[in-house]
Amino acid sequence: MTIWQPDPARFTGPRYRAIAEALADDVREGHLKPGDRLPTHRDLAWHLKVTVGTVSRAYAEAERRGLIAGEVGRGTFIRGAEPPAPSSLPPERGPEPLGLLNLAQNHPMPGEEIALFAQTLREIADGPDLAALLQYQNHTGLPPAREAGGAWLGLAGVDAPPERIVVTAGGQHCLATILGAYANPGDVVATEAMTYPGLKAACQLRQVRLEGIAVDAEGVLPDAFAAACRQWPIRMLYLTPNISNPLAGTLSLERRKAIVETARRHDVLIVEDDVYGFLIDRPAPFAALAPERTFLVTSLSKSAAPGLRIGYILAPADRIDRLALAVRSTIWMVPPLMVEIATRWISSGVAERLAAAKRQEAAQRQVLARRILGRAVMGEPTAYHLWLPLDERWRASEFVTEARRLGIAVTGANAFTVGRVAPMNGVRVCLGSVADLGTLEAALLAIRDLRDAEPDPLQSVV
Ligand SMILES: Cc1ncc(COP(=O)(O)O)c(C=O)c1O
Repeated sequence: MTIWQPDPARFTGPRYRAIAEALADDVREGHLKPGDRLPTHRDLAWHLKVTVGTVSRAYAEAERRGLIAGEVGRGTFIRGAEPPAPSSLPPERGPEPLGLLNLAQNHPMPGEEIALFAQTLREIADGPDLAALLQYQNHTGLPPAREAGGAWLGLAGVDAPPERIVVTAGGQHCLATILGAYANPGDVVATEAMTYPGLKAACQLRQVRLEGIAVDAEGVLPDAFAAACRQWPIRMLYLTPNISNPLAGTLSLERRKAIVETARRHDVLIVEDDVYGFLIDRPAPFAALAPERTFLVTSLSKSAAPGLRIGYILAPADRIDRLALAVRSTIWMVPPLMVEIATRWISSGVAERLAAAKRQEAAQRQVLARRILGRAVMGEPTAYHLWLPLDERWRASEFVTEARRLGIAVTGANAFTVGRVAPMNGVRVCLGSVADLGTLEAALLAIRDLRDAEPDPLQSVV
């Protein structure tokens, strides 16, 4: 079909819902078929004499019901009868209801990685080195892979020679490898009082005690870290100094230096997670300030694609063998095909190109989000996520429940909190996983309306 021309006048209620009803009806009646392209928000708005925002909300409603899907650069299409794409499913919780808009998971901004992936796979298949990719390799990665990892980590502003690099199966595997090598059950690991939930999971599995250090919008307070070092025998400090998760703040150089001083005094190892570092102009990393005790960690999950499962650790030279042992004891080696793709992408400049495009896309989406949600939001203006503070009328968990009722998934403070009491009331909103900008806009509008509404006091009473 060329252009879909609905007749929403047949349906009552708000205009956007009437348009969504008309769409659902046309799908039911077979007037719209899987794969049919829908008009742009602007074209349909002009045709129906409504605002573009109304059409965006209608499409968001239809996407929530699983009727349509947006693809960046291609448009919006009628869905087939297939289940939602696996990338929209939080694996630890199983499938979400069909059509739930995922602002809960920190997906990379969509870009040209799929086309590049196809092209690189073809080049590898046609090249002379295919057989080697089916062989065992060493645990740290072969020299070209370590060199590529060093080049990638070096962008953080540190000398990263290949012999100090370990190739891993992603950022989470970096953490599991370091904890496996250097944290024993009962050891104390300190981190931001609100931290990346994957660290909490890794520590829980290893029976490592996690202690939260007080934070502000920038990150950990050096004095609080010093006090914690006096109170507990802290073995390791894990930080995400560039765009923390969930607060999306960046630690100043002064704070980094103060933290290093304390870490040296109390002989604390530092794990510096830099998966989001490419999104900002980074201050000097801990790995440059305290190379003798820092593990700098990154992955290609946010800058290229999470399915690659490629990460890198820069470690002090005398720590490499034990990390290699941890890789060996978990996966022996990272799948060589994925390592080969990552090595090619880094050495050819493709990885940097993808990362730069994603940073730009993130900046655009942040402008949209801040226009809608206002200046109260926290975080770097080029981050993938933002922190939406909530006032005392809302409990974060209730807000999450109400947002789900509207078909939108966000993550509440508890998921990130170390200990029992969240130091800040709010939710993390991720801007990368909804492909269609109009749909994202509608979702953010709904979140804003919800934030500004009075919570229904009876809602949670059974
Ligand atoms: C701070 C942080 N570190 C590590 C990871 C894990 O990255 P990967 O997908 O490479 O395992 C994430 C993923 O969201 C993250 O937010």
